[in-house]
Amino acid sequence: MTAMWKRAHSGDAGSSPFDPSRLDGEAAGNIVADIAARPRLHPHVITFANEKGGVGKSTLAFHVAVALAHKGQKVIAIDLDRRQRTLERGLTYRQGTATNLGIALPSPIFSVLDHPSTAVLYQTINRLNAYAHFVILDAAGADSPIFRRAVAMADTLVTPVNASFLDLELLGHLNPVTGVPERAGCFGQTVASLREERLAREMGPIEWVVVKNRVRSAEKRHIGRVDEALEKLAIAHDFRIGQGLTERVAFRELFQFGLTHLDLGLIPEMIRPQQSSRQEIASLLDDLNLSFGKWERATAAAKPAARVLRRARQDFRAAISNAL
Ligand SMILES: Nc1ncnc2c1ncn2[C@@H]1O[C@H](COP(=O)(O)OP(=O)(O)OP(=O)(O)O)[C@@H](O)[C@H]1O
Ligand SMILES: [Mg+2]
Repeated sequence: MTAMWKRAHSGDAGSSPFDPSRLDGEAAGNIVADIAARPRLHPHVITFANEKGGVGKSTLAFHVAVALAHKGQKVIAIDLDRRQRTLERGLTYRQGTATNLGIALPSPIFSVLDHPSTAVLYQTINRLNAYAHFVILDAAGADSPIFRRAVAMADTLVTPVNASFLDLELLGHLNPVTGVPERAGCFGQTVASLREERLAREMGPIEWVVVKNRVRSAEKRHIGRVDEALEKLAIAHDFRIGQGLTERVAFRELFQFGLTHLDLGLIPEMIRPQQSSRQEIASLLDDLNLSFGKWERATAAAKPAARVLRRARQDFRAAISNAL
């Protein structure tokens, strides 16, 4: 065993100048102070964040936002990734689908944060609906000042991970031989520092849920090992584990229509939605352990159906069927 390997796995920062209370040079206390200085938000904030890119933050944010709207909740969705705009695009396509099919789809109201500042984020929430039940924040997959604020604002923080030790490293490191958790990963450290500061200011906890995504049943043995590691990390870093979504082509294909499996039952003459996919989305929501606001059917049913040519509607429906 080389000295370098030992050092890398010992969890000993040694003479490294790394200060865990400073996040990329910014004190965690200042980030939380920036949030604490603003009027308390009425909606429950759910932030989807992980410093790892491409793990499914936007996919899960989209499904949770739509699932909450299906429950009659007033939902605001804000895309913090102003370059990719995945969440915004999905929800825009959803509006187009509703129009093309002439149906009402329960939907969040949404926006992109065009300027990455805390003031603009709060203004955007209040402009969209200060009295919404939920705000969904979809963060870009890299650390930045607005990324840290979105984490600091979270009542519920959702972190998707793929079943890979590479992804788990960002949460925390486990000794590969003993399996003992040794130190926080970069994102785990960010969450820990911001949680500590929130606690010191009595701002209420950040409920952290790590959700597996793109799980493939063919990888059972490997997933068993990843599950074991996740359970150890969950104790060490105080998060819950959500079951998440399996790998399904339909999750990708339905994006271009802004649809989830929950919506398929609302489309006349559409094939029956797969029960297992609907169940996965329902379980994802259950795992977040949210309390729901007063149920208001009017929110979901208010939109009048658009008048659409029968032929155009048939073509559109056929395209959705092809995607399933
Ligand atoms: N459960 C799933 N089944 C199949 N494909 C999925 C699933 N979840 C996500 N994907 C696909 O994985 C890719 C990355 O997903 P997504 O864009 O949601 O990740 P992200 O974490 O938001 O990425 P970024 O860090 O770039 O913002 C996309 O192609 C998406 O369609
Ligand atoms: Mg994204």
